Amino acid sequence: MKIIRSLEELRSWRKKLAPDKSLGFVPTMGALHEGHLSLVHQSQKQCSSTVVSIFVNPLQFSPQEDFSHYPRPFEQDCALLEHEGIDLVFAPDAAQFYAPDASTYVLEETVSQPLCGSFRPGHFRGVTTVVLKLFHLVQPDFSYFGQKDAQQCAVLERMVRDLNVQVQIVKCPTVREPDGLALSSRNIYLNPLEREKAPLIYQSLKAAVDAYTQGERSVRLLEKLGRSILEKEPLFKIQYWEIRHPITLAPLDKTDPLATVGPEGALIAVAAYLRKTRLIDNWVLNEESLRKSK
Ligand code: PAF
Repeated sequence: MKIIRSLEELRSWRKKLAPDKSLGFVPTMGALHEGHLSLVHQSQKQCSSTVVSIFVNPLQFSPQEDFSHYPRPFEQDCALLEHEGIDLVFAPDAAQFYAPDASTYVLEETVSQPLCGSFRPGHFRGVTTVVLKLFHLVQPDFSYFGQKDAQQCAVLERMVRDLNVQVQIVKCPTVREPDGLALSSRNIYLNPLEREKAPLIYQSLKAAVDAYTQGERSVRLLEKLGRSILEKEPLFKIQYWEIRHPITLAPLDKTDPLATVGPEGALIAVAAYLRKTRLIDNWVLNEESLRKSK
């Protein structure tokens, strides 16, 4: 497995790839877990070669967030990827990746605004900027993202559509612990008590889905039910627990979420602090997910 840090070296690697072969790309910030590996496997299934990037992107963290102590187990990540048979790890040097006086950014102005966008100002600007820069360098045909970051997927889909980027975004299902907790690199911040409480987020989503299956159709009541489950646990501080359109992320104001959005389904999205750790999760309520939840 090749590890490349220099932008020039990556460009020459890319030029040598046969034009008739497909290239899959999994951008990550490292601290890899089974969720990342499921993206890698999907890429390997679909593409002739797979590149994984490892880059803790300073631009998507605000000054009070966890950039400096974000986990960086680089050697361990590379060993995992080597074991998976990855062709190339691109781990750019931050100083080379961003010019010290960089002043050009990618800004998506609609889908990035609500939910996480309203609590993490500048976050999605950092994500769109880094991902577009990586797309320019790697020039993949397909790029793989986890459905757990539903808003990130929606923002990036909008970006590739609006800027005519020739990359297909592939959304892969959220990977969960047996108790329902969505895998995340930030789960390592949880102490044993917090880890025990963390699956309540999943349970709050499941409760709303179950209520929908049993006939509850009011968006307001489904949101109230989901929130109330997390509110019972004082260690949680909810940022949002909302049902939204899965593509535009616009709020739903009609009574039945599915009747409002149609076959794409409705996105139930939640973000909450569990003491100091911010957790997010979501569930797409559609015919297929309803069948699976039974
Ligand atoms: O999802 C992530 O890990 C990051 O936001 C991404 C897409 C790698 C961009 O830094």
